[in-house]
Amino acid sequence: MSGEFSKVIFSKEGGVASIVLNNPSRYNALELELRRELRRALEEAARDDEVRVVLVRGAGGNFSAGADIRAFLEWDPAKCVSIANEVGTSMVLANIIRSMQKPVIAVVEGYCLGGGFELAMSCDMIVAAEDAVFGQPEINLGLIPGGGGTQRLARLVGEKKAKQLVMTGDRISARELEKMGVVNIVVPRDKLEEAVKELVEKLLSKPRMALAAAKEAVNLALETGLLAGLRAELMLFASLFATEDQKEGARAFLEKRKPVWKGR
Ligand code: COA
Repeated sequence: MSGEFSKVIFSKEGGVASIVLNNPSRYNALELELRRELRRALEEAARDDEVRVVLVRGAGGNFSAGADIRAFLEWDPAKCVSIANEVGTSMVLANIIRSMQKPVIAVVEGYCLGGGFELAMSCDMIVAAEDAVFGQPEINLGLIPGGGGTQRLARLVGEKKAKQLVMTGDRISARELEKMGVVNIVVPRDKLEEAVKELVEKLLSKPRMALAAAKEAVNLALETGLLAGLRAELMLFASLFATEDQKEGARAFLEKRKPVWKGR
């Protein structure tokens, strides 16, 4: 592993990497050092072939209250851009998450605000406790979201709702976001681990090359026009016919048995 961690807790077990934001006395505010470690942990999880699913969560019963507001007193535009280029959520962290060829799941309980919400939205799926509270409160600090909030929300929930959230700074519940298609699964807090386990096991049971292609193809739907997306989808679909797992999948179906995936 590339160096030790103190602001995140990073562990790997049974094909699952778990990255826990660990700054609970500040609601896991995304301090610079924490962002650096988060970047390192994500890169490590992306690199490690044994890791097939990645979980991102917060310590102490909350996901994250977002960017470190204390640091904002000293930021100027140049500093802001240099930090965004090094460890910003919109470009750097989201790019690592979205380009890694394995699912990344945000597990959210408690507060998930500002950069915390942006980080969760960058993940492939969000599983939340019923009492989780989301929002983009930057407007109340004389700011706007700077980690992808305006862009991802507009794509996920449409212009009007996105404007409502970023212009009022109002909080929104996990259930409301589930209805709007931003959160995948919402369960009572005491059922959160069970729900995460069930989703993780389902993902671990899938053929990894197809899983990676599925992720990339859906990513492209948000990043390109329809025609380019359809072409890329066809190429990804076609490429899977070169995998052993594709042949195994078809054979197992025809032989009425469960497939045994090889991961290639
Ligand atoms: N950055 C830095 N410190 C933060 C923080 C943040 N985003 N969010 C919370 N903290 C700190 C508080 O300053 C406080 O520190 P202190 O103990 O040294 O005074 C500590 O965490 C506890 O926060 P507090 O506000 O006292 O707790 P609360 O239970 O009353 O409220 C929140 C919790 C999360 C609702 C509230 O802290 C909050 O609104 N945080 C900011 C959210 C935000 O605007 N995020 C967008 C940033 S751009």
